[in-house]
Amino acid sequence: MAEMQTTLTFKRGLTVKNRLVMAPMTTKMSFYDGVVTQDEIDYYALHSGEVGMVITGAANIQANGKGWEGELGVEADYQIPNLAKLAAAIKKNGTKAILQIFHAGRMTDRSVLRGELPVSASAVAAQRAGAETPRELSEIEIQQVIENFKQATLRAIKAGFDGVELHGANTYLLQQFFSPHSNRRTDQWGGDRQKRFRLIEKVVQVVTQEVAESGAENFIVGYRFSPEEIETPGIRFEDTLYLVDQLSELALDYLHVSLSQFDRIAQSPDYHERPMIAYLQAKIAGRVPLIAVGNVQTKADITTLLQIADLAAVGQSLLIDPHFVAKIFNDQEELIRRKLNRYDLDELKIGNGVMSFLEQMMPERII
Ligand SMILES: Cc1cc2nc3c(=O)[nH]c(=O)nc-3n(C[C@H](O)[C@H](O)[C@H](O)COP(=O)(O)O)c2cc1C
Repeated sequence: MAEMQTTLTFKRGLTVKNRLVMAPMTTKMSFYDGVVTQDEIDYYALHSGEVGMVITGAANIQANGKGWEGELGVEADYQIPNLAKLAAAIKKNGTKAILQIFHAGRMTDRSVLRGELPVSASAVAAQRAGAETPRELSEIEIQQVIENFKQATLRAIKAGFDGVELHGANTYLLQQFFSPHSNRRTDQWGGDRQKRFRLIEKVVQVVTQEVAESGAENFIVGYRFSPEEIETPGIRFEDTLYLVDQLSELALDYLHVSLSQFDRIAQSPDYHERPMIAYLQAKIAGRVPLIAVGNVQTKADITTLLQIADLAAVGQSLLIDPHFVAKIFNDQEELIRRKLNRYDLDELKIGNGVMSFLEQMMPERII
């Protein structure tokens, strides 16, 4: 069991000052070309400083990996100067800055891609209203994706970030390769579980090797994943235990499980006795630290979470109250702001895009 105010040192030497992490949350505030805006820098500066580390919202590694408007970009060198300002703004009071990097795969559309068809492991549409059937990536394009994860990591190093998080969760491209729903390939990148894991393995290997060769000191690499899919066929908890077992053997500094409720029980009847994070920790068996997330609102939630996982990521609670962490540490829970309305946006530096998303997805947080 970890105490929330204790430090943690990752394998590559980076030390975080406490066990709280700002969960990756897109701001939808970047320029059309992925360049960080001043609004975004102000937003992160306001929300940083108290948590041990901030993981940014997802940044796309190549043009056809863009998932939505206002998303961060890390696909070209012209984006580095403002990424450097973002990293510097986050690194306040010793907080560490982690850039989340990803490719959206089929979870985007032609309008975001300016007329281009989305790509994925296979030409299978996602199960959601209006989803376009993507184009299957060719062998050369897969090699390019791997190369672009590497280049994005190099840019993060140049911009002064403390690490990158490979976004393999929330149904984006890396997850699409692991999923039997979106990956129907019969070449070396598809087939059984081991083959569907191959792209993830390759990306982790190439990125971690690049970090080693770059000479960057204390620069960490994490991996985020989602434990279950609702589609049939789809990723089952059993598959995820295989995934974390494999990932624990690679040169990663942390694993990060994406959950809407941190102590959720698996859908699979074989794993109903304990929350998913308990099974995950048992499988990881101390090989790499685990971050868990999902509806953390109180000190009691954090204590319960840290009885199992090593770090607690906080999303909306921190978005709505930038001083959530200080109030928790100072036993001032009654002062935490728990809901917001449109008049709070200027003060909290939250954009209209995120507010609309919250109104739609989390109406219980809005007054
Ligand atoms: C506004 C918003 C934006 C998000 N953007 C991302 C993102 O860019 N990458 C990601 O991995 N998860 C993203 N998430 C998911 C969060 O990281 C987190 O897993 C989820 O909100 C559950 O944690 P919470 O209950 O503490 O908010 C986002 C969530 C919200 C509310």
